[in-house]
Amino acid sequence: MELIPLTPVIGAEIRGADLLNLSDSQFADIHAAFADHSVVFFRDQPELPPDVQVAFARRFGELHTHPAAPTLEGHPEVFVIHAHAESKVANGNGWHTDVSCDVEPPLATMLQLHTLPSTGGDTLFASMYAAFETLSPNLQEFLLQLNAHHESEHVYRGRYSDRGVDDTERTYPQALHPIVCAHPVTGKPALYVNPSFTTRIEGLSSAESQSLLKLLYDHQQRPEFQVRFNWSPNAIALWDNRCVQHFALWDYWPEERKGHRVTIKGAQPESAREAGSQRKMRLSQRL
Ligand code: SIN
Repeated sequence: MELIPLTPVIGAEIRGADLLNLSDSQFADIHAAFADHSVVFFRDQPELPPDVQVAFARRFGELHTHPAAPTLEGHPEVFVIHAHAESKVANGNGWHTDVSCDVEPPLATMLQLHTLPSTGGDTLFASMYAAFETLSPNLQEFLLQLNAHHESEHVYRGRYSDRGVDDTERTYPQALHPIVCAHPVTGKPALYVNPSFTTRIEGLSSAESQSLLKLLYDHQQRPEFQVRFNWSPNAIALWDNRCVQHFALWDYWPEERKGHRVTIKGAQPESAREAGSQRKMRLSQRL
């Protein structure tokens, strides 16, 4: 396998991977590339049967079930991404972190697209490590002390009605997460607020919360934190929701774009401030 970094901060393409026959050491290399580059891409793949995609995703951990989206018949772990001429909404058409409203949001998402528009339909990914790193130390210090509410009622209610989902009896998830989370594998701090699900910052007035969130959203969207993926048929993207936000551009209407998405279950995000002080404590105990 060959690893081609795509920008200095985020994204790499992995060439020559046979996902149907991966050895343990090849999987370990993919896992390491995923930790180093936050999103990895595979081109020139066959269309993966749903059970093969599910089996590959399971190597990263237990799978996550989406709280709202319709799934593929017989494969409850597979969320069908589909936009076409009659669609009222297209998934991911705005900056977001997948299902950050869950108390335990998905660790990673794996998407393979089978049908593509003739042009357009790119997905943009942004590094939330870079977003945090480039804030001033004073603002970083302030953010490290804060939590924010993530809600989904406004996102999901009625969203999939045109795909036969009746959600009148459902309650959609909400959660309170630290604004700066420690990545459980790399230990690095990542900014964890997004304009789709984050609604307010705990302990600030509504005006303060709105202004600070706007500042952070504007900052997160700087192009130097991004990689933009132009899909080829059956390409696969695997992104780390703990340190990446993404935006699936719906610039191809009325054309069709379709594929299968599987998400891997994550843990409750940990505050970077607490993770940092625990690390310091462990270090001082060892000295
Ligand atoms: C999503 O947000 O999961 C959709 C991403 C995409 O369609 O590129």
